[in-house]
Amino acid sequence: MTSLRWWQKAVFYQIYPRSFADANGDGIGDLEGIRRHLDYLQDLGVEAIWLCPHYPSPLVDWGYDVADYMNVAPEYGTLEDFRRLLEDAHRRNIRVILDLVLNHTSDQHPWFQESRSRRDHPKRDWYIWRDGKDGGPPNNWYSIFGGSAWEYDPRTGQYYYHFFFKEQPDLNWRNPAVKQAMFDVVRFWLDMGVDGFRLDAVGTIFEDPALPDQTAPMSYPEWLKAWNAATDEAERERLWRIRQEMFRYQEDLPEVHDLMRELRALVNAYGDVVLVGETEDLAYYGNGEDELHLVFNFPLMKAPRLTPAVVRANQRERLAGLPPGAWPCNTMGNHDVSRVLSRYGDGRHDREIARIAAALMLTLWGTPFLYYGEEIGMRDLILTDLSLFKDPLGRWWYTVERELFGTPHEEAVIRGARFGRDKCRTPMQWSRASNAGFCPPGVAPWLPVHPNYQEGVNVADQLEEPDSLLAFYRRLIRLRQRTPALLAGEYVPLAEDSEEALVFLRRLREDGSACLVAMNMSEGPAHVRLDLPTWGRCLFSTHRKEGAEEALRELRLAPFEITLMEPSPNDPGSLLSAGSRGSGDRAGSPPRRGSRRTSPPPPARPARPSRGSQGLTEPLRDPPGRGWTTCRCSRWRRCDPGPPGSLPASDGWPAGWPPTIHGDPVPPRRPAGGTAGWAPSPRPGALPASRPDPPWGPSSPGPPSGSSARPASRPPPGAEEGLPLRTSG
Ligand code: NOJ
Ligand code: CA
Repeated sequence: MTSLRWWQKAVFYQIYPRSFADANGDGIGDLEGIRRHLDYLQDLGVEAIWLCPHYPSPLVDWGYDVADYMNVAPEYGTLEDFRRLLEDAHRRNIRVILDLVLNHTSDQHPWFQESRSRRDHPKRDWYIWRDGKDGGPPNNWYSIFGGSAWEYDPRTGQYYYHFFFKEQPDLNWRNPAVKQAMFDVVRFWLDMGVDGFRLDAVGTIFEDPALPDQTAPMSYPEWLKAWNAATDEAERERLWRIRQEMFRYQEDLPEVHDLMRELRALVNAYGDVVLVGETEDLAYYGNGEDELHLVFNFPLMKAPRLTPAVVRANQRERLAGLPPGAWPCNTMGNHDVSRVLSRYGDGRHDREIARIAAALMLTLWGTPFLYYGEEIGMRDLILTDLSLFKDPLGRWWYTVERELFGTPHEEAVIRGARFGRDKCRTPMQWSRASNAGFCPPGVAPWLPVHPNYQEGVNVADQLEEPDSLLAFYRRLIRLRQRTPALLAGEYVPLAEDSEEALVFLRRLREDGSACLVAMNMSEGPAHVRLDLPTWGRCLFSTHRKEGAEEALRELRLAPFEITLMEPSPNDPGSLLSAGSRGSGDRAGSPPRRGSRRTSPPPPARPARPSRGSQGLTEPLRDPPGRGWTTCRCSRWRRCDPGPPGSLPASDGWPAGWPPTIHGDPVPPRRPAGGTAGWAPSPRPGALPASRPDPPWGPSSPGPPSGSSARPASRPPPGAEEGLPLRTSG
């Protein structure tokens, strides 16, 4: 029997507060709006929400520039509203985790205001201040968001350091007072009863205190230009090494792991609290129990093509690298990257592709994080009017396109929109009502609503439709919740030579349960040999009759079919032996506490699909007559598809950089009578032009007294902490 923590079982749902639901009619989402939709989330099967920053902020980086860590932005509500939301969520057994921005504050934060006021202020050393050198900044480091990492402050005649925007000065984590103050922030929210944190940009917290000049042989703008022009892999490899050299003193310094261990010890004192890091680096799991609980599987999210070979290679690499006790975490989208359907949709099979992406999240081993709107198939909205841009990154890239690359205005706007992050932050689409029901009619939402809410991409319509994407998510989440093998079973790949179908087993040795997952990721029929001398019973399928039994020697799958099977009750157990030959390096198994870490097998090169093999993205090609709208991801290493079916190298961009230009293709003309300033999704039949962009960028028992009731202390019926899992069959 296996005991799981709540964050291992829960489906997480990321909410961008500004865009979820506007309760007070000002066009801006708010906490009360979220609270009013908790029933929706509960019905969907969501058991935890991650709230993007809800703190007061001047909004230069749309909340990631925090001006007060212990409060609520006035446009989102009050601390009282927050408490109400937390209580109501907990009442529904929905946990709440917050976004914790440790690396930097807003330049409007009182700490920084004090720090910049005079050189001898006690808070001066809370930030990184240095004298200039030779009439310029202290060294030649760059900000990942463009320009020097140093900003001169004439008031005191020194420079301060910022990894992100200049309005986001980096805190000096080498000063114990900073750690003390931030840990107080952590305690403040934990005392209120929140259930954990998503840690923003963890890799950037420390930088080399000696401030050595980086020795990259070109400037960042030159590098960007060269990267843009690079066409072959060797050149990109060379440029990539240069980029690593450029930022080597600013990212992933070893000190950050000491801090993570301290933070883990702090939260452990509060009981079953979770820390999830905005990083893909498995090193942040520490020894599996002493740093972060969860680290995102960003390499899967960033895969330019989602093929069976890509998923298998991804699972093999990630699971083999997990330390004992560590738990995987999968996601297909967030507020920094293109929406999953804009990334992988091909304009012809979007309905099916959305289901495949959902099925991956809900059946692979690990905690799934869904991004708001993904469950109804929301897509990127590419703004075509520069004045509507909210994300400064989009505007910055527009300028780079114009000034560095000489791109004509109209094209530069589109490129800026694709580079920026407004595209994936548009209001949640609740209904066919005006403004998609996000805010009242006649009110201008803070970002335009995607017009496809009128075409069924909205909650109300999909609740009525038994075959909708939303219904699919609800069914599969329910199945996941009641199927122990799907929650906790080891991952055993099957039919590994199939180019079309991804087939694997989730197998729970403790209780003998198992679930066979098969998805045909191609538009043609697939035939896979399983050679399992057993029968399966269909649990869930897009094509088969549920409850029907069949021999598992082979599987014939319809195009894009998704089928889950359990062992036939008349023939139970034999699935357990599947894939056991040489399974040591083939299966990802939830490691037992205290088990020895085995060295990961060498990463296997995924099979090369034959010509014509379908992935979830078509091979890149320019839509006829619209060359410039095509994704130019080859500019960016992360978007380079590599050999067909291969994963992009996991090469450690700092959280979210560089972004890639992609998203839905822009049609040549705006629709007649359409809303100015946006470009809608392609019609069926349009060629895909999108590929993924990278992301940005055992606890001790019982909370201390004074904590508000966290569900850990009031487990839901049948979902108690550490509830022994029962077999499903
Ligand atoms: C990562 C966040 O996801 C992104 O939105 C933000 O701009 C940077 N960190 C800086 O906080
Ligand atoms: Ca509002």
